[in-house]
Amino acid sequence: MSALVELSEVGKRYGNVIALRDITLEVHEGEITCVLGDNGAGKSTLIKIVAGLHRHDEGVFRVEGKEVSFGSPREALEHGIATVYQDLAVVPLMPVWRNFFLGSEKRVGRGPLKRLDIGFMRATAKKELLDMGIDLRDVDQPIGTLSGGERQCVAISRAVYFGAKVLILDEPTAALGVKQAGVVLRYIAQARERGLGVIFISHNPHHAYPVGDRFLLLKRGRSIGYYTKDEITLAELTAQMAGGAELDELAHELESAGVKGAPELRDEARDLGVSD
Ligand SMILES: Nc1ncnc2c1ncn2[C@@H]1O[C@H](COP(=O)(O)OP(=O)(O)OP(=O)(O)O)[C@@H](O)[C@H]1O
Ligand SMILES: [Mg+2]
Repeated sequence: MSALVELSEVGKRYGNVIALRDITLEVHEGEITCVLGDNGAGKSTLIKIVAGLHRHDEGVFRVEGKEVSFGSPREALEHGIATVYQDLAVVPLMPVWRNFFLGSEKRVGRGPLKRLDIGFMRATAKKELLDMGIDLRDVDQPIGTLSGGERQCVAISRAVYFGAKVLILDEPTAALGVKQAGVVLRYIAQARERGLGVIFISHNPHHAYPVGDRFLLLKRGRSIGYYTKDEITLAELTAQMAGGAELDELAHELESAGVKGAPELRDEARDLGVSD
């Protein structure tokens, strides 16, 4: 069976800046593909290509085996690719159920009698959220009163309800505390259980590793590694993210500044096999 999303040697430049080069990646049904990398590594550029905001200019992008190049997010959505951005587009003062159906409101009646089907939308939002294990006291409360984590969860269950096959999450846990990040990670895993293919962007290997099935590590627009879970441990992933040489360098700097613990940091880099 072909992958839901497949990138093969994809590249993208912005004028003279090469933002991505030679990127290969697969997203399968019921799997979470994590994209990790530091600031400026090219993570957002990568998902913007898949989400239809930018066109790639090298390589091949396939959705369910067919080559595509999206001109707009609408096109991506028509192929079942939904994106949850970090700065969620919600209307804070509107109720949760209203935000759940934003842009896809359900109406009843005809002609001049056509009106919003509030009862249906309220009940459906409540049920869908409950099915994902999100028990809100009241779907009439303004979405602005929910925590950041709860809002991410609403966005995830909304994408599931509207039939997304691929769910892209751009750093959904970055601004969250440990407990809330845990809750969001649980719903990401639930989206996978429902058979979606998830692309999960993160800076944090401790968030990505427990839920991820595949890991793409980016650095300055290039892949520095692409692994399935059985090919890499959390310690190795963390070390690769930190960059072995850089970790060693940092230890040197801390050491010469007289910071306690620096030799241990260097030993750790060495134990992980990342230091030369
Ligand atoms: N619209 C643009 N025009 C020109 N250069 C851009 C544009 N968007 C991104 N870049 C450049 O492309 C490179 C990759 O940027 P990108 O936003 O994809 O990184 P990122 O991994 O998402 O970083 P962050 O973690 O900071 O969000 C950077 O050097 C960035 O400056
Ligand atoms: Mg980014």
